[in-house]
Amino acid sequence: MGKLKINGGKRLEGTLAVQGAKNSVLPILSASILIAGESILKNCPDLKDVDAAMAILRHLGCQVTRSGKDIYIDARTLTTSQIPDQLMREMRSSVIFLGAILGRTGEAVLSMPGGCELGPRPIDLHLKALRALGATIEERGGNIVCRAEKLRGAAINLDSPSVGATENAMLAAVCATGETVITNAAREPEIVDLQNFLVKAGAEITGAGTSTITVSGGPLGVQVTHKILPDRIVAATYLSAVACAGGRLELTDIVPDHIETALNCLRNAGCQIQVVGDRVQLSSDGELRAISPVVTRPYPGFPTDAQPCLVAALTVAQGTSVFIETIFRNRYRYVDELRRMGADIKLEGRAAMVTGVKRLTGTSVAATDLRGGAALVVAGLAADGETTVGEIDHIERGYDDLTGALRRLGADISRLA
Ligand code: EPZ
Repeated sequence: MGKLKINGGKRLEGTLAVQGAKNSVLPILSASILIAGESILKNCPDLKDVDAAMAILRHLGCQVTRSGKDIYIDARTLTTSQIPDQLMREMRSSVIFLGAILGRTGEAVLSMPGGCELGPRPIDLHLKALRALGATIEERGGNIVCRAEKLRGAAINLDSPSVGATENAMLAAVCATGETVITNAAREPEIVDLQNFLVKAGAEITGAGTSTITVSGGPLGVQVTHKILPDRIVAATYLSAVACAGGRLELTDIVPDHIETALNCLRNAGCQIQVVGDRVQLSSDGELRAISPVVTRPYPGFPTDAQPCLVAALTVAQGTSVFIETIFRNRYRYVDELRRMGADIKLEGRAAMVTGVKRLTGTSVAATDLRGGAALVVAGLAADGETTVGEIDHIERGYDDLTGALRRLGADISRLA
């Protein structure tokens, strides 16, 4: 695994266009299975997780090519409904293919998705939703075998607003006969993007972005072109970096509403923020003040994925900030690495008390997971001296050209082999 080398303490300044959203392109790549023709996806980020999803589509028999930020999928030649274990292990969120494969072929065989760095990643809500639509599901030797002679529209109430379960339910419901109403659905912007893709394909879906999504099953078209929405978590990452390193950042190609909670936190921490259309401008003198409490919640609450980078930024704030993590059990694995840089963070269950220190000190650290790894980069940019971040494969799952983007802002950062 590669390393990043960062000489911190430099002011950052510049303009960045925000990459397409990983958590939008992945479910939409799955949805392309339902199009018995060509899907053209624009603004796709160049990420390891996207490569893994493309490999799964190719394994299923689809033609998949990439040209720059555009991905072309022809799902007419789909030949199998099974994803082998090693492809499932490449990407934790491969379960997002379940509903589409089942809807398209009447069967889906996937290995049980393992846990991940964030802790167990159960899929009980996914399976409950598919059973409601008429699927029979067996767990056999580590595999999930789903079958459905016929999917029938149903009322699906999710016990909790799971993003992936909402997406799998939508994808299977499009192929069901009759109407499906999903209640307590996740409201993330990526769900809206998935609905927009499916509606372009001829699906009758309404309600994405609210807690109730209604789907009327029916045939889909044979060609869709769709531009992937901007990545709100990557946007919050760059804003957190400039907030603590100090400087000025303009982000373009962004939907400010999608990062409202992160912008409010950064404003309360002392950053100057302006929102102008699809641009956000932040300036910071690097002298932040503590904010509390920051509680992670399903959208439109503060996103769990933006928590690590905001924690990193507040390690050098005046005062003590309190974070409460309500989504993932092992979200704080990156904290030990921040402590190696001199951060003062106390953990008590789901709570993290972050007491600002004057400066962090560069040292060697290792990414524990995708967003925790990004937090170490944020900390390294603000720290005195040199920081090396190892295990950066985690980071490259979700950030397209992080090093290039930060160098364009004046950061002294380079990727070591
Ligand atoms: C999506 O994961 C995102 N991934 C995650 O982003 C994000 O953190 C998460 O939503 C929450 O916003 C993608 O979209 C590819 P969930 P997902 O189902 O769908 C529990 C990143 O860094 N749960 O909403 O897996 C689960 O254990 C990644 O980009 C069940 O109990 O998240 C968790 O505690 C990390 N049973 C909570 O719900 C289920 O059947 C939220 O999970 C499903 C989930």
